[in-house]
Amino acid sequence: MKKKVLVSGGAGYIGSHVSVELIAAGYDVVVADNMSNCDMTCFEGVKKITGREDIPFEKIDCCDYASVDRIFSEYKIDAVIHFAAFKAVGESVAEPVKYYRNNLLSFLNILEAASVHGGCNVLFSSSATVYGDAEHLPVTENTPRLPATSPYGNTKQMSEDMLRDVVAATSSYDGKDGRWPVKGIALRYFNPIGAHPSALIGELPRGVPNNLVPFITQTAIGKRECLSIFGNDYPTEDGTCLRDYIDIVDLAKAHVAAVSRMVEGKMAKDYEIFNIGTGRPVSVYELVTAFEKVNGVKLNYKFAPRRPGDVVAIWADTSLANRELGWKAERTVEETLASAWAWERHLAGKL
Ligand code: UD1
Repeated sequence: MKKKVLVSGGAGYIGSHVSVELIAAGYDVVVADNMSNCDMTCFEGVKKITGREDIPFEKIDCCDYASVDRIFSEYKIDAVIHFAAFKAVGESVAEPVKYYRNNLLSFLNILEAASVHGGCNVLFSSSATVYGDAEHLPVTENTPRLPATSPYGNTKQMSEDMLRDVVAATSSYDGKDGRWPVKGIALRYFNPIGAHPSALIGELPRGVPNNLVPFITQTAIGKRECLSIFGNDYPTEDGTCLRDYIDIVDLAKAHVAAVSRMVEGKMAKDYEIFNIGTGRPVSVYELVTAFEKVNGVKLNYKFAPRRPGDVVAIWADTSLANRELGWKAERTVEETLASAWAWERHLAGKL
């Protein structure tokens, strides 16, 4: 019997890539999404890539407990990967209530249903944002989290804590009160970029992209006039910020490794945290020039003032994930940037 994984937010950028890799690894997938920040493009792409027309799709809002409960009743879920959340840092500062309500309530509902229905493990999509402006680099999972600088970042920290507490509290449950133990893993992503090699799924930002790579590809295709590189006076070699850009397919494979660890009972502790990155710092300027070189395009860019809230540098120590998950990022940054460009051209009908 195949194990069944519920992917909340599964029609989005990361969720769609994860669905593809789960199916390739032999899992059944149920996609749930309220479509608040995406259209069906990526879900259709997932069906095409996997050749599976029958992937169940549930248009639900995880903030509605009855809907979540129905999904758990209808499908026998072995693991849930929770992506369904808002993710724009600036917007979260302007609309904290919207962020706290959506990101926390949806996850509480998932945690509740996982315990009530039993036999379900929970994988939470967290972020390197929880480390803030870390003093020592690269960061390990034991690097202390710093106070979040945005409601978005705070929802990631709070959700990690919710998972940790639910795992601890439910560990002694035996189903007598209609509740069962929940085990959990939080994956802290660094900067996911790129697209599936088929160019059938990728990042589809609405409006002006906040993140670097979609802004680069949209500038290269002519949708945006000029890329602003935010700050070239940082204390780094070329003056621009350093990040750990992780290929989206590599990132998706880390989820498969984490889900397998959970459903096969291989966890070392009931709640675990892993950094998911490459361990390799790349500057914004390096990324821009690598994009130009690998794709043979000239990018219109300028240096602009620093963006408020940006940290100078962050990258991962990935040894724990490498060792425990038996997973390692494989694609080079050049391959990843080529895939991002192929996706942008696919969207423009130029591929
Ligand atoms: C951001 C969020 C992070 C979140 C992640 C989700 C902040 C401070 N952090 O990470 O919490 O988890 O997105 O994807 O917003 N850059 C430019 N020009 C641009 C856009 C970005 O120079 O037009 C630079 C930024 O200054 C930064 C780097 O590119 O140095 C990466 O930026 P971005 O892609 O937005 O990711 P983060 O800020 O690292």
